[in-house]
Amino acid sequence: MTAALVLNGPNLNLLGRREPGVYGLMTLADVEQLCADTGAELGLEVECRQSNFEGELVEWLHEAGERQAAGELVGVVLNAGAYTHTSIALRDAVSGADVRVVEVHISNVHAREEFRQHSHLSPVAAGVIVGLGVSVYPLALRALTLLGPPTVLR
Ligand code: DQA
Repeated sequence: MTAALVLNGPNLNLLGRREPGVYGLMTLADVEQLCADTGAELGLEVECRQSNFEGELVEWLHEAGERQAAGELVGVVLNAGAYTHTSIALRDAVSGADVRVVEVHISNVHAREEFRQHSHLSPVAAGVIVGLGVSVYPLALRALTLLGPPTVLR
């Protein structure tokens, strides 16, 4: 069990030029490099994907559930962007695929607009890391390695 998936949702491809005061100056490529470096430190093969399409994220979560069940994956770091606040389909994908997810947000969603303060994903996530800038990604990867086998605790 040596792999982890990092999934980024809508608009995160714009990192670096999207509201830099909120999300910082690092691009998605920088974040993916940070994840790869963290993976190298942890002995974890990190695979990063981004999509602006809800259904594609759903399918990747299904695939992750299968790979986790096969013992190939420790879990998923998921920044679902705005789908966090709207998508019952993503929540159902996490619980339906029985995949271990650490939900992350670069910004402190609790200090922002009210509509960002509800997450459909948090109740089915193993844990949530928010508001620490892009360091939420390496922190979540570390958490996945520390949690132990997904069968013990999702
Ligand atoms: C975000 C927070 C969401 O509310 C927003 O829609 C995003 C990014 C974050 O990483 O802070 O797209 O998930």
